[in-house]
Amino acid sequence: MMNRQIVLRSRPESNPTADNFEIVHVAVPPVTDGNVLRRTMYLSLDPYMRGRMSDAESYAASVAIRQVMVGHTVSQVIESRNPQFAAGDFVAGYDGWQEFGISSGRELRKLDPAHAPLTTALGTLGMPGMTAYVGLLDIGQPKAGETVVVSAASGAVGSVVGQIAKIKGCRAVGIAGSPDKCRYVVEELGLDACVNYKSESFREDLAGACPSGIDVYFENVGGAVFVAVMRLLNVNARIPLCGLIADYNAAKMPSGPNLRPILVKRALIKGFIVFDHNDRAPAFLKDCGQWFREGRLKYREDIVDGLEHAPTALLKLFDGRNFGKLIVRVSDDPTRT
Ligand SMILES: NC(=O)c1ccc[n+]([C@@H]2O[C@H](COP(=O)([O-])OP(=O)(O)OC[C@H]3O[C@@H](n4cnc5c(N)ncnc54)[C@H](OP(=O)(O)O)[C@@H]3O)[C@@H](O)[C@H]2O)c1
Repeated sequence: MMNRQIVLRSRPESNPTADNFEIVHVAVPPVTDGNVLRRTMYLSLDPYMRGRMSDAESYAASVAIRQVMVGHTVSQVIESRNPQFAAGDFVAGYDGWQEFGISSGRELRKLDPAHAPLTTALGTLGMPGMTAYVGLLDIGQPKAGETVVVSAASGAVGSVVGQIAKIKGCRAVGIAGSPDKCRYVVEELGLDACVNYKSESFREDLAGACPSGIDVYFENVGGAVFVAVMRLLNVNARIPLCGLIADYNAAKMPSGPNLRPILVKRALIKGFIVFDHNDRAPAFLKDCGQWFREGRLKYREDIVDGLEHAPTALLKLFDGRNFGKLIVRVSDDPTRT
């Protein structure tokens, strides 16, 4: 049996292109004692992948040239020589951009499709959802009645941040890049307002949507959006610094923001990486699982068909052409017929 894989061919200087990747075919090795072979059904595409393509110093190792691109996956076990897994089981793992994964299974988490659609393990009930949960609740510490602002508000992380802010009794304001996305954030996700950062009146619109200032700003993008938010911060504001996607393709580092508002407003800004907070996974799965079952965590997915389209699909994240959690369907999902 052959395994189709996508490997990193070259490192981008600025914007990645499909040419940075290459499709290769290798034989699937035999399943030895203790190992689990699974077929990838879904591959998650996430902004952090841009960092893995680069050899600049970061919080995680780069993908080597000719190495299979990394990524979270949902798969079905097709052969198991590990008693903890049986053929037919659905699992969440980190098999990367390939059709088959094989390992001892230590990193796999079993999924029950009766509990939630399998793809949610890559979004609302997976890494992006946990990022939202940890960043907002542990660092942002929102209190009922406060104003929480979140950028990239229609996306995988931002959509969960805004809805948890509402669950916690806050005024929740989104920032997103199109009228369609803003409408979705208010009408479907239930946030109080959403402003389009590409509009000429963005700064005034944001001020109008935050009449009592901003107590928590969940930062996903950086750049001009962050500058606009800074002047509305309240005293003792908290800023979970989750991502800076506006800068991920920059060929040289942008000059820093004016930090004076952080000083004057005694604001707390804290960067965080979700995998440092794995001890919070049980609480995240319990709370978000319950809110999900209660219909209080809505989600939207942008599903692209075919592993071969992963390289071009990834680019959508960096110009906002994705609308919802970006996922590649690698093979058929027997639970969705
Ligand atoms: N710290 C952590 O552990 C951690 C974990 C997961 C994710 N993250 C970060 O969280 C952020 C959101 O990730 P996600 O997976 O939820 O992605 P996403 O929001 O589903 O997709 C990315 C979105 O970013 C926005 N964007 C892209 N380029 C932009 C620019 N130049 N200026 C402003 N907005 C831009 C686009 O939305 P618009 O159309 O609205 O512009 C795009 O749809 C990223 O910064 C990511 O790196 C951090």
